[in-house]
Amino acid sequence: MVLKIISAAEAASLIKNDDNVGFSGFTHAGCPKVVPLEIAKKAEKEHAEGKPFQIGIFTGASTGDNIDGALSRAKAIKFRTPYQTNKNIRNAINNEEISYFDLHLSTLSQDLRYGFYGNVDVAIIEASGITDDGKIIPTSGVGISSTIVKMARLVIVELNSWHPKELRGIHDLDDIQDPPHRAEIPVINVKSRIGKEYIQADPAKIVVVETNAPNDGGCFAPVDEITSKIGENAAVFLVNEINRGTIPQSFLPIQSGVGNIANAVLAAMGNNEAIPNFEIYTEVIQDAVIDLLEKGRITFASGGTLTVSNPYIERIYQNLPFFKERIVLRTSEISNNPEVIRRLGIISMNTAIEADIFGNVNSTHILGSKMMNGLGGSGDFTRNAYISIFLTPSTAKGGNISAIVPMVSHTDHNEHSVKVIISEYGVADLRGKSPRERAVCIIENCAHPEYRPLLYKYLENGAEGQTPINLYDAFAFHKAFMETGDMRNAIIE
Ligand code: COA
Repeated sequence: MVLKIISAAEAASLIKNDDNVGFSGFTHAGCPKVVPLEIAKKAEKEHAEGKPFQIGIFTGASTGDNIDGALSRAKAIKFRTPYQTNKNIRNAINNEEISYFDLHLSTLSQDLRYGFYGNVDVAIIEASGITDDGKIIPTSGVGISSTIVKMARLVIVELNSWHPKELRGIHDLDDIQDPPHRAEIPVINVKSRIGKEYIQADPAKIVVVETNAPNDGGCFAPVDEITSKIGENAAVFLVNEINRGTIPQSFLPIQSGVGNIANAVLAAMGNNEAIPNFEIYTEVIQDAVIDLLEKGRITFASGGTLTVSNPYIERIYQNLPFFKERIVLRTSEISNNPEVIRRLGIISMNTAIEADIFGNVNSTHILGSKMMNGLGGSGDFTRNAYISIFLTPSTAKGGNISAIVPMVSHTDHNEHSVKVIISEYGVADLRGKSPRERAVCIIENCAHPEYRPLLYKYLENGAEGQTPINLYDAFAFHKAFMETGDMRNAIIE
């Protein structure tokens, strides 16, 4: 190799205080593993010597512990966007130690190219292969790599031999034009390929760090009675829609959100024989997708990342020719692109933290103020979907929290975009309903029976008008939880 090979510590030494650093990957998949740990060590050393050292971080989505965990523990993060799931960084964000801004994932690359958030000084990219002329082959997740490689003054490539070289060909790495010169994005079906199988970088900017560090893919929670019932309800809803002709017989591509619930729901859909074999156009390809690809229930999956647990990534790598025929990995600008989502008629299925009786959804904040993970791609898909579905267990924390509340404590998806809400109790189809009709539909079909009388009382006491909210009691559930630890103690006057 003619490219310069250096150690992870040497690579970290090239990063300066106040640099903005872009990392490859999307969730833990595709993230660099060894250089960020060395950056964290460097930060600790500099701090011990009384010197400032913090960097701004751009990523595709959340990362592995080696980035968000290690760097937040080392107090090395100045700002962070667009999504995170690590508990150390979440605490630092909620303690206001780290400035975090939550973004639609589809927009970050373009925002960066136009300089909304300053420079990208350094790009750190995990690669399964690299050529002397600067062709970088990503690993199991892509994210914003194409953009940050182009913008950065320095590209540090973590060449990771834990990933097989044969991954080359699974990616579709576009180079779309920027406004006002953008032509249509020619993804006309789930399988469309519109780009290259590599990211082209200027070889003069590249240094290479060799590693064989494994992915840190955690496990999904097993399907339980509640998630399996939510899945069953979603499947029955979709079958009914096919039968009444509102979804074509040939079905439509599915987007499935991040986390345990989305994973369980997809598994339940696969088990329902009345659902035809289907395709996925999504950002995160989780474990359930791999099972269903093997069974032939999912025929093709387009995504941005293989957010699978380690036994699953090993299974994929052992049978790579099979999966390369059935999976394409794209940049987040394309996997989450509103134009493409609308064109393909995607049915989106994301998870809510809470929904209100009028159909507004909070995906991100606990009690309005504490950031959970972030919006991720849920907004990209929800706003542009053919049918947007939100899934939620009716309660959280052993029943002390109702996921259906009078008014959401934070709004990510509003009543105009949310079409269907599903809990273990049933399906609230909000299409064509006024706010009052939606409220009855959500209380009756999705709320836990213990909370229904309180929600009806709130509705009855609502102000006159098209949307019968009651500003005095809108947060009575949240207030009761803060004061007594149980929303069932809510007082609705
Ligand atoms: N109030 C307080 N806590 C709540 C809550 C509520 N209303 N609803 C859920 N929680 C808690 C759960 O109790 C659980 O806590 P724990 O980790 O202490 O056990 C945690 O939130 C996660 O809930 P879980 O039931 O395990 O769901 P999940 O893994 O499916 O994640 C989201 C749910 C909403 C956090 C997750 O889907 C998310 O980050 N969504 C936003 C981004 C997104 O939708 N991306 C997809 C686009 S493709």
